[in-house]
Amino acid sequence: MKELDPHNIPKHVAIIMDGNGRWAKSQGKMRIFGHTNGVKAVRRAVSYARQIGVQSLTMYAFSSENWNRPEQEVSALMTLFMQALDSEVKKLHKNNIRLNIIGDTSKFSEKLQQKIINAEKLTEKNTALCLNIAANYGGCWDIVQAAQKLAWQVKEGELAVDQIDENLFQQHLVTAQQPPVDLLIRTSGEQRISNFLLWQIAYAELFFSPVLWPDFSEQEFNQAIWAYQQRERRFGGA
Ligand code: IPE
Ligand code: IPE
Ligand code: MG
Repeated sequence: MKELDPHNIPKHVAIIMDGNGRWAKSQGKMRIFGHTNGVKAVRRAVSYARQIGVQSLTMYAFSSENWNRPEQEVSALMTLFMQALDSEVKKLHKNNIRLNIIGDTSKFSEKLQQKIINAEKLTEKNTALCLNIAANYGGCWDIVQAAQKLAWQVKEGELAVDQIDENLFQQHLVTAQQPPVDLLIRTSGEQRISNFLLWQIAYAELFFSPVLWPDFSEQEFNQAIWAYQQRERRFGGA
């Protein structure tokens, strides 16, 4: 493990957890076997992020485009999500971690929606880490839903059009109140955003790891943070 500068820990880390299917295939197993093992990697990453003092960790679990997968895989993912909520929420709460599900949850079953509401309510006052799980999330959707909220306020006469600025807009995204993403990690060697956070990564440092998500270890995470700490962030300055 590389030694990290405790004064330069990214406040907000976002992760595109990719490669579960290829990981399973490489062992001659069904894709869902990869997703099941992916949950273990989530646990490791959450624990490491909390340990080093990351404030917000946003993990891409299911994109708005992932409905395009075979029905069998989608329903297996939903079951897994449900099971993970059942088994992990108490532990998260005990570790003072706040859980936030970001995305259009209205497309989920009533039962899953209720579990999400309960988990968020239970953990809402926790302060050690804010864990955002992106489920049925799309960066384009996020921007549109923020625009809709603002449009309604204008229509109701609560807001003037020229009061809409970047700061107000940001406060209507699903990550409102959280710092912008400092570091975006994608595993599995793919180098694209796949409709994950868009606005929020405007000035993020990007880190692409060849490791498939179920193999993403504390060492890999440490390596990504270390690489981030070697970068010079200029934000357009000289
Ligand atoms: C990421 O792994 C998990 C989800 C998108 C749910 P994939 O399932 O995309 O795995 P690959 O990319 O096919 O290997
Ligand atoms: C992005 O991975 C979505 C998640 C990790 C949840 P995908 O595997 O769905 O993305 P593409 O299809 O390679 O762009
Ligand atoms: Mg993939």
